[in-house]
Amino acid sequence: MDMMDAIGRRYSCRAYDPKPVEEEKLHQIQQAARLAPSARNFQDWRFVVVTDPCKRKEMMAAACNQSFVGQAPAVIAACSTSRHVMRCGHPVGPIDVSIALVHIALAATSLGLATCWVGAFSPDKVRQILNIPTEVTVVSLMTLGYPADSKKQPNRLPADQIFCREEWNF
Ligand SMILES: Cc1cc2nc3c(=O)[nH]c(=O)nc-3n(C[C@H](O)[C@H](O)[C@H](O)COP(=O)(O)O)c2cc1C
Repeated sequence: MDMMDAIGRRYSCRAYDPKPVEEEKLHQIQQAARLAPSARNFQDWRFVVVTDPCKRKEMMAAACNQSFVGQAPAVIAACSTSRHVMRCGHPVGPIDVSIALVHIALAATSLGLATCWVGAFSPDKVRQILNIPTEVTVVSLMTLGYPADSKKQPNRLPADQIFCREEWNF
């Protein structure tokens, strides 16, 4: 699948088939994440892949009881060990981790899998469930698995409302 195709097919999947994700596909997804760019190539991202059914139920509770989080055969807790702030004032951690998550989501799509970004969760609860040290930032969760729903027509602003040329013109 080419990149534009994967971008077009990706969507937030909120219903999953119980079929587990094959280790070979997980391996390819790991490769996609590790090849992402990061500030000064720090690579301070760390990912905990959760497939244990009991733990997934606990992750669902930590994610505001969003049922698809418990249903997905895998949940990735995407974390950063970085405390670095760039000269522009933005913290590196969430940016680098988010870029890697985009790689994960697009790689998963190209492998016939589906994902959903999960920002509604309690970092403290996730830390407790997964034994993540307090100094580590839990940036996001991402569900992963074979879809049991299908993509709906995306609601997006047209390009000319979000891009302008040469100077701010909105
Ligand atoms: C940072 C971030 C956090 C999100 N958190 C959640 C979430 O907690 N629960 C959920 O169902 N969807 C969540 N989403 C998915 C968005 O609702 C979804 O990406 C958006 O509606 C566009 O739909 P699409 O991904 O299907 O194109 C999140 C997406 C992003 C990028």
